[in-house]
Amino acid sequence: KIEDVEIIEIPRVHDERGLLAVIEGEIIPFEIKRVYYLYDVPTDAFRGGHAHKELNQLIIPLSGSFDVHIKDGDNTRIINLNKPHKGLLIVPGIWREIDNFSSGCVCLVLASAEYDEEDYIREYSDFLAFKNS
Ligand code: TYD
Repeated sequence: KIEDVEIIEIPRVHDERGLLAVIEGEIIPFEIKRVYYLYDVPTDAFRGGHAHKELNQLIIPLSGSFDVHIKDGDNTRIINLNKPHKGLLIVPGIWREIDNFSSGCVCLVLASAEYDEEDYIREYSDFLAFKNS
């Protein structure tokens, strides 16, 4: 459900040398099994366009900003991610599309499982069927 998608605030240590953000313990509700990142993304790129059956992800705009469009089959939300200490938790069964990348943007993704194409739903009609099953 779209209400289960939430912004997670990453705790920071701030002093005159800058900011240090830490993800550990109970900050995210899953065990991290994979880390990947998007960079050198053309500003007119369109990414995502799929859902996952089981995967949980935390999406963090390490640098720059982008828009995440999420759908659960009933509702749609658009979330602009633009702070490196605010990540978006995307639970399973959520369709996501990402666009409006700023130039030089770096998008970090923490994931609950290793890459598995079997976990993807890449057709929106299949997604709606999955939600109704
Ligand atoms: P995809 O998940 O479709 O990218 P995005 O959601 O960012 O648009 O993945 C793009 C390609 O990269 C696809 O061929 C699968 C491959 N890939 C991996 O090999 N390992 C990974 O961990 C990820 C996320 C993708």
